[in-house]
Amino acid sequence: MPIKNRFAEMLPEIMGWRHHLHENPELLYEVHETAAFVAARLREFGVDQVVTGVGRTGVVGIIRGRGTSTRAIGLRADMDALPIEEATGLPYASKVPGKMHACGHDGHTSMLLGAAKYLAETRNFDGSVVVIFQPAEEGGAGAKAMIDDGLFDRFPMDEVYGIHNAPGVPLGTLMTRPGPLQASSDEFEIIVKGKGGHAAEPHRAIDTTLVAAHIVIALHSIVSRNVDPLKRVVLTVGTFWTDSAASNIIPDEARMAGTVRTLDPEYRTIAEARIRDVVTHTAAAYGATAQMIWDPGYPVTVNDPQGAARAADAARAVGLHVIDDADPIMPSEDFSYMLEQVPGAYVFLGNGDTPMCHHPKYVFDDEAIPYGCSFFAELVERRLPTA
Ligand code: NI
Repeated sequence: MPIKNRFAEMLPEIMGWRHHLHENPELLYEVHETAAFVAARLREFGVDQVVTGVGRTGVVGIIRGRGTSTRAIGLRADMDALPIEEATGLPYASKVPGKMHACGHDGHTSMLLGAAKYLAETRNFDGSVVVIFQPAEEGGAGAKAMIDDGLFDRFPMDEVYGIHNAPGVPLGTLMTRPGPLQASSDEFEIIVKGKGGHAAEPHRAIDTTLVAAHIVIALHSIVSRNVDPLKRVVLTVGTFWTDSAASNIIPDEARMAGTVRTLDPEYRTIAEARIRDVVTHTAAAYGATAQMIWDPGYPVTVNDPQGAARAADAARAVGLHVIDDADPIMPSEDFSYMLEQVPGAYVFLGNGDTPMCHHPKYVFDDEAIPYGCSFFAELVERRLPTA
């Protein structure tokens, strides 16, 4: 039996929690019912300390082991859902129109609750486990809000770990890597001002559309010409519009917005500077003006090499198939803020052959639960061994 047997017994109960959370999705920081559910379960398990309202709606639980060690291991799950209309047809589908757990955070929360119940029952470790349930992973930087609210000062931790499910990866497989695992995500908006006029008399105008189009093309020289070909950077202009509503009007103003993703933090600064230069000088070349607004987002998710190795060892010990040199991916993740403060690792847990996260037909596979719970529990028992 690869997984810890206790979790096979607990599976129906943990699935019940997940299906309840799945039916009742909440967005960003508005995870009031979810946080209350989590806190109630933790109290029921006899967790030594349960603190709510950390980073607005985050929940922290402390489980003390045997012995006198002051070491502490953090385990983190995210609780928020997405503004997506569910199309799975599941019996426990979302009851809330326009909201869905389409990224499996209901599964992450339930797996961490399952691990917390087991750890509170067995206490087969010396030190403390800090279970962290965060709000607002989906674009709200809930991890940062918890850190700004003193997460690591109020509940000191030596290491911190988190799991995200991975559609397309077989069940029973865990993937991680040392170093950068997920990209940073910064956004930019560009406002181009020309001179509007009649489409038939362009010589009396400054054609804002033409200038903005040149800016899009020029921006795509940054990744191909300013970035070391061995580094990973992606730039996408996702939206572009003008204030002209007709085919025979040259607009006064054009706007576009896009994102820059990279696994190399130095390229966040380089990209920002290059975008600003390209935008202002391209506009000037055509007699227009332009400004760029830079909106920094989640940092690069960087695994501590030892943390990644420890996570891989714990996963192997409970029978998971482990890929410890997985390719990094370009979507971002706000667990990155926690890994900036405390060494540890983020891991991907196989979710089988399901539609991708953020798809209206995405399904978290309950069969993944015993693997995730066993991984968390084993990691704690290894990192906080009893004498
Ligand atoms: Ni997610």
